[in-house]
Amino acid sequence: MLKEKVISAEKIQKVIATLAEEINADLEGRDPVFVGILKGAVYFMTALTLHLNRSVVVDFIQASSYGATTESSGTVTLIKDVTVDIAGKDVYVIEDIVDTGLTLADVVALLRARHPRSVQVVTLLSKSSRRKIEIPLDFVGLEIEDRFVVGFGLDFAERFRNLRDIWEFVSDQEGA
Ligand code: IMP
Repeated sequence: MLKEKVISAEKIQKVIATLAEEINADLEGRDPVFVGILKGAVYFMTALTLHLNRSVVVDFIQASSYGATTESSGTVTLIKDVTVDIAGKDVYVIEDIVDTGLTLADVVALLRARHPRSVQVVTLLSKSSRRKIEIPLDFVGLEIEDRFVVGFGLDFAERFRNLRDIWEFVSDQEGA
């Protein structure tokens, strides 16, 4: 069940506008490709790139979610690869939330192997307290505490992605 609204739609839009200002300044002199991680980052990617003041290339990548035993980097299984050549490009990886960091570490390693000029990470949310792997985040919207959240792209079992606000989700047993 949806327990509590954690971040309002208005706040999300403000955070994205601020991130876009920082990224607009960073884009100077770069040859940018924005790579969104499917599916969660779709809403964030769309809102963010609409705030940018120059044309950028947009692409998506989808990695398999890791199982409990898959904890090493560089072992990600690709479900959908990017379709543009990122060699020599400035890649901005767009993520909805960084939790343990394992998914992102794998995706960044995979993209770096294609010899882009740079790889930077942009995430809407970060749960730093849950990190299992050191991964530098270049642009972070909001730090959140260790709660499971849904909405604005984030799901529980594929549901709730299209909520405008971000909510804490708890299973019915916990919420009862
Ligand atoms: P990580 O590899 O543990 O950092 O997990 C990153 C991915 O797990 C995100 O892209 C989300 O798909 C998912 N995830 C982590 N925390 C949450 C959450 O609170 N709500 C929904 N999905 C989450």
